Amino acid sequence: MIRKFRRSDLDAILRIEKQAFPKSPYSSFTFLYYAVACSNTFLVYEDERKNSNKIAAYIIFYPEGQGHIVSIAVHPVYRRRGIGTELVGEVLKRTKGKASVEVRESNEIAKEFYTHLGFSLRTIIPNYYGDENALVMILL
Ligand SMILES: CC(C)(COP(=O)(O)OP(=O)(O)OC[C@H]1O[C@@H](n2cnc3c(N)ncnc32)[C@H](O)[C@@H]1OP(=O)(O)O)[C@@H](O)C(=O)NCCC(=O)NCCS
Repeated sequence: MIRKFRRSDLDAILRIEKQAFPKSPYSSFTFLYYAVACSNTFLVYEDERKNSNKIAAYIIFYPEGQGHIVSIAVHPVYRRRGIGTELVGEVLKRTKGKASVEVRESNEIAKEFYTHLGFSLRTIIPNYYGDENALVMILL
């Protein structure tokens, strides 16, 4: 089930975040900021099977303008099951299928993921992450 982020999801999301982005995980403060700034488009995917109610993934999306994926991460156990695709599909409904995203140049899986979704390379921002370039990928 996809639903809006709730404050009680925070601990589960922080665990997913640390695993997904060990170099630069968002803090709880950052997530709580986005819970306000993107209140309708900070979404979680909850696994309701057997009443496990486990948080499997999250996405944060800025719906203004052409739309921007701020962050997305899926718990390792739940990867490659289409959950990331479903979350992106859900937020894209708000921007008529348009979006941009920055991706670490070394993140081969994310590049595959966005290419699979139809994104293409727009430009490269040198040292965007301090230690690494960002690829700006867009879906038009
Ligand atoms: C990137 C990420 C969100 C993808 O989530 P996911 O739910 O596993 O993705 P999906 O199951 O929807 O995959 C869709 C397609 O993306 C590509 N893809 C996803 N994972 C892949 C992998 N490990 N290797 C190669 N291609 C992959 C495939 O084309 C896949 O389609 P297929 O399974 O039919 O071959 C997830 O791997 C993740 O959380 N990574 C760590 C955090 C991160 O890098 N986030 C993005 C930074 S902006």
